[in-house]
Amino acid sequence: MPQIIVINQSGDESTVEALEGRTLMETIRDSGFDELLALCGGCCSCATCHVHIDPAYADKLPAMSEDENDLLDSSDHRNEYSRLSCQVPITAALEGCKVTIAQED
Ligand code: FES
Repeated sequence: MPQIIVINQSGDESTVEALEGRTLMETIRDSGFDELLALCGGCCSCATCHVHIDPAYADKLPAMSEDENDLLDSSDHRNEYSRLSCQVPITAALEGCKVTIAQED
């Protein structure tokens, strides 16, 4: 069971247990981070699950879809490490990954 490190909007770090087969959004939301609104429930249509992924793990993530890319463009806080966490499956390769919840738009 991989552990990931979640950094909230205030910069505080917490380690959470992640289950393979779930998404990063579900993992963060269900670990009690109410900053991650995930309003659409994971349908890739709201962008309120925006996170910044540890650069060292960039090559362990699935490719970004056009829809995800378009939605991220609507955020003022997008950077090169931005992803929608509902589009990132938990895998063993994410062990130790730091994920920062993006500031709200
Ligand atoms: S939860 Fe809405 S886009 Fe991820």
